[in-house]
Amino acid sequence: MQVQLKVNGRSERIDVPANTLLVTAIREHLRLTGTHVGCDTAQCGACTVLVNGRAVKSCNTLAAQHEGAEITTIEGIAQADGTMHPMQAAFKDCHGLQCGFCTPGMVLSAIDLCRQHPNASEAEIREQLDGNICRCTGYQNIVKAVKQGAAASATA
Ligand code: FES
Ligand code: FES
Repeated sequence: MQVQLKVNGRSERIDVPANTLLVTAIREHLRLTGTHVGCDTAQCGACTVLVNGRAVKSCNTLAAQHEGAEITTIEGIAQADGTMHPMQAAFKDCHGLQCGFCTPGMVLSAIDLCRQHPNASEAEIREQLDGNICRCTGYQNIVKAVKQGAAASATA
């Protein structure tokens, strides 16, 4: 079936089987491989993208459910000149990543979190990110990064 999406600001019409997961459409049909698959069972959050501004686990939803939606992947958040999004810069500055596998999903979840709760406490950040699993960092620097990214986003 044909599905019309707006992905990172570009209109995309894809022709996919009706049972195609959104993550498959993003990675395999649109070749945006920054969105990762860690579990395929809606637990790890590595596949998180923004759908109309809200963080969604793209392994847990069909592409066809999002006809007309605006999708933002990790490839779509930096500025056109390559300047990182404040949340990306914060993850870099705070060493909020090691292997980086969880990072695209973590950053997009953090952007949604900060949009909804610009002054989130550490406890709220930890609670809101509990759907994103990191096997490397111990989370301490991720929380620091989200705090810094939230503050930078507020003044950007
Ligand atoms: Fe989607 Fe793990 S791959 S939540
Ligand atoms: Fe390796 Fe999070 S940085 S899984």
